[in-house]
Amino acid sequence: MLNIIILAAGLGKRMRSDLPKVLHPIAGTPMLGHVLRTARALSPDRIIVVVGHGAERVREAFAADDVAFAPQAQQLGTGHAVMQALPLVLEGAADDACLVLYGDVPLVRADTLGALLQARGEGLALLTQTLADPIGYGRIVRDAQGRVRRIVEQKDASAQEQAITEINTGILAAPTAALRRWLSQVDNHNAQGEYYLTDIVGLAVRDGMPVAHAQPASAWETLGVNSRVQQAQLERIWQGEQARQLLEQGVTLADPARFDVRGELHCGRDVFIDVGCVFEGSVHLADGVRVGPHCVVRDAEIGAGTELEAYSHVQGALIGASARIGPYARLRPGAEVGAEAHVGNFVELKKTRLGRGSKANHLSYLGDAVIGERVNIGAGTITCNYDGVNKFQTVIGDDAFIGSDTQLVAPVTVGRGATLGAGTTLTRDAPEDQLTLSRPSQVAVPGWKRPKRKS
Ligand code: UD1
Ligand code: CA
Repeated sequence: MLNIIILAAGLGKRMRSDLPKVLHPIAGTPMLGHVLRTARALSPDRIIVVVGHGAERVREAFAADDVAFAPQAQQLGTGHAVMQALPLVLEGAADDACLVLYGDVPLVRADTLGALLQARGEGLALLTQTLADPIGYGRIVRDAQGRVRRIVEQKDASAQEQAITEINTGILAAPTAALRRWLSQVDNHNAQGEYYLTDIVGLAVRDGMPVAHAQPASAWETLGVNSRVQQAQLERIWQGEQARQLLEQGVTLADPARFDVRGELHCGRDVFIDVGCVFEGSVHLADGVRVGPHCVVRDAEIGAGTELEAYSHVQGALIGASARIGPYARLRPGAEVGAEAHVGNFVELKKTRLGRGSKANHLSYLGDAVIGERVNIGAGTITCNYDGVNKFQTVIGDDAFIGSDTQLVAPVTVGRGATLGAGTTLTRDAPEDQLTLSRPSQVAVPGWKRPKRKS
């Protein structure tokens, strides 16, 4: 059985925040969320999160069937932290293992962890790295034959040991039964007065257990976050990595450094994305979609060949093929825009279907409406969908022409092919194929004179 233990009890003092450190986000997802996603990719039998500072908030944020929480009231060291998880560990067979991860090391990849578990065989395996500047890390001490002997922490290391450049990333995989035995033997007689998880390495060697190692494919995978500066660095690394993957898939990014995905972005062929865009939640861009500069797109599907022009904001919307949206359009949840439709500047759609080939090009609010095909919505048209208590629907038939500055007081229906004169306040249904208008007819007053200033 595979157990994954995630250490997440630390305070994160240097974040200078009321939020527990592991809840601080990278790409819109709490760091611990990234670690849990990666952990789940390994299909473990159980995940145990060791919580301390802000334990309640961490539990609340990540309560799930496959996650157990182990409280660690006092942070007495990484060995002590793992010990708190042991009562919750699932055990059954001799090849049972525990993999130890960290809630503040969010970018480690599942492939790297898979390689570590592979390297372990039936023994202990350490994820290590060779760094030009190893200062601060635990060092991997090897013998003349290159076999791992133990780990020495920076603060306990001799000058000779400090010269070692192979460091401990902290991530390791161990046989469960042996891990229990070793941890019960670890003491805190060291420079920091802590129970070091790293001391199990020396105990494994004493027991004659082989100690293997693996290294991450990319050095950034094992970077941890202790400060806002490091958080910002990891954010850029993660965004750069997502940009790189999209470029490799054939997406054009005007500038891979000015682009943010906070969720999942799926792109078809020959998609173009201009600078400064933010994608959140789950977004699908079909073949040939072009996204102009500074658009925000969240939980949306955009059809093939559609253009989203600058400064558009799209959330919870479905857009058909070859449509034109923006600049400055706002599509809110429940907006459905048909193929070849146009939604222009300062037009807001909410829970509204705009049919194929229909156009709302300027300054409109269309809420709770079902609009047919080839409809023209004039500038300044507003659906009055709300009486202050309830919402009502507006229905507009195919080929209708809505004159500018029209108010449609819902519930109301405009028949197919109907024309509404500009400035109409529609309070009753408008019949098919007729002109409906509600404004008083225009008059010109003969002989009228402008008033003159009294002398
Ligand atoms: C640890 C390793 C060191 C390694 C380094 C990599 C030990 C003794 N040392 O050192 O070899 O090079 O990580 O970054 O393991 N935590 C708890 N409870 C505790 C103590 C720590 O949950 O009682 C959590 C912390 O929140 C943190 C992680 O464990 O996420 C690491 O703890 P930290 O004290 O930062 O270990 P390091 O001194 O960096
Ligand atoms: Ca650390």
